[in-house]
Amino acid sequence: MQDTGLFVVTVASEKGGVGKTTIATNLAVYLKALCEDLPVSIISFDNHFSVDNMFAIGPHHGQSVAGLFNGVPLDHAMQMGEYGVQFMVSERHLEPPNDDVRHLSRVLARGELSGILIIDTRPILDYFTRSALLAADLVLTPVKDRPSLVNASALQQALVEAGNTADRLWLVPSLIDSRVRLKEGVGIHEFIVMQAKERDFQIVDTCVAKSPKVESLTTNFSSRIHPVLTHGRNTAVHPQLKHLAGFIRERYEAEYPSVSAPLARVVASVEDLPPGRASHFATDCPVCHRRITGQEGYFYQDLRHHGTGFLHRSCLDQVLIDAELQTLFPDRGALVMHLPETGLTTDEGQVTLHLYDDDGEEIAVEVLPVEPSTRIIALLQAVTGREPEEMFREMLMVALTPEAPLTFLAEAGAAVFAQQRRLVLEDMRAKERL
Ligand SMILES: Nc1ncnc2c1ncn2[C@@H]1O[C@H](COP(=O)(O)OP(=O)(O)OP(=O)(O)O)[C@@H](O)[C@H]1O
Ligand SMILES: [Mg+2]
Repeated sequence: MQDTGLFVVTVASEKGGVGKTTIATNLAVYLKALCEDLPVSIISFDNHFSVDNMFAIGPHHGQSVAGLFNGVPLDHAMQMGEYGVQFMVSERHLEPPNDDVRHLSRVLARGELSGILIIDTRPILDYFTRSALLAADLVLTPVKDRPSLVNASALQQALVEAGNTADRLWLVPSLIDSRVRLKEGVGIHEFIVMQAKERDFQIVDTCVAKSPKVESLTTNFSSRIHPVLTHGRNTAVHPQLKHLAGFIRERYEAEYPSVSAPLARVVASVEDLPPGRASHFATDCPVCHRRITGQEGYFYQDLRHHGTGFLHRSCLDQVLIDAELQTLFPDRGALVMHLPETGLTTDEGQVTLHLYDDDGEEIAVEVLPVEPSTRIIALLQAVTGREPEEMFREMLMVALTPEAPLTFLAEAGAAVFAQQRRLVLEDMRAKERL
């Protein structure tokens, strides 16, 4: 599987029965149908078992979503389901592990899962919904009428309170009855769009119509829930869900252009970056904080948070001044700075350096004790924007090449980096360092 990074879509609203689960489950199926090679996963913090009823193949046992909160590796907990969508078994009684809503984001950032993950939530702002809001790259909030639209403001506020940014929220007009006309002949969809724009909400360029056929798919006599794609293709909802999946795919591609762009593109400068990637790109060297153009130095990526940038060669030399392994740098390869789980709480070495050659073979490992690590910790702090006590399993990968690091921003270069990153992660996982 290609290393594609992870894009999390959380479907949330405080209003019950607005179509969250219908949108979340069907979106997974449509996304998979739209991009066959893209891993698509879904989990639900609800206890209605709709995800299980749509995706489970045969009797559904296995690790439930509770595993996310008690250390089970994600790739073990996810199982392959119907329509090629991976899912986790739902849980009847889900108990918060503590009150730290960052837990889920940390688990998802471990890199065990890639592609698109859809999270269905309960209609309350509990620990799990807040965790899913914080972890989200994009939040979809179905709105069906004025009250649910008013409620979206509260959700937006919760998104910000959880530590995310308000601009990740997108409204989806849902359960729209196209026959209903309000005063002066205005349709419900039109009305919601107007109201949303007045309140400065972002709203997707489609809706999900109310359809008896779609309703019957979830309320039939068997426990199996069928997707609109297979059982409701002649409804108005079919093209709408396809459109919604296309919108999510576009957002995903903007975030991970190297994976998805079909044509090789040469980037002449940092200013050429597509907006999705530019937001994760640092234009200053994280060591000396001076501007760096990419004509010189090294390219790096923060593997947990996906921030990228360049750093000067002389700056990296300074950071590694006490490290023996600096003398072993290959012409072409990668350096990984890894902060293990116990990172800053133990005296037995804080940062581990791993040196890889071009084929993903590990050349050297060096564990640095507390004192010489401080410069590396400062570098990690600049790259991740986190305080040392918040750092947890940080991983910074620096591509070592004789060419200008700018080449890593072009499609071909990005693919080379992604391939090397995959080899490195595989090796680290095989050696149980992750
Ligand atoms: N497009 C649609 N057309 C008709 N009925 C729909 C549509 N979408 C959802 N429904 C029906 O509306 C009800 C609520 O939908 P759904 O369960 O998806 O909402 P929800 O927001 O997840 O609810 P909850 O807050 O209880 O989790 C269900 O009975 C479902 O079958
Ligand atoms: Mg639901």
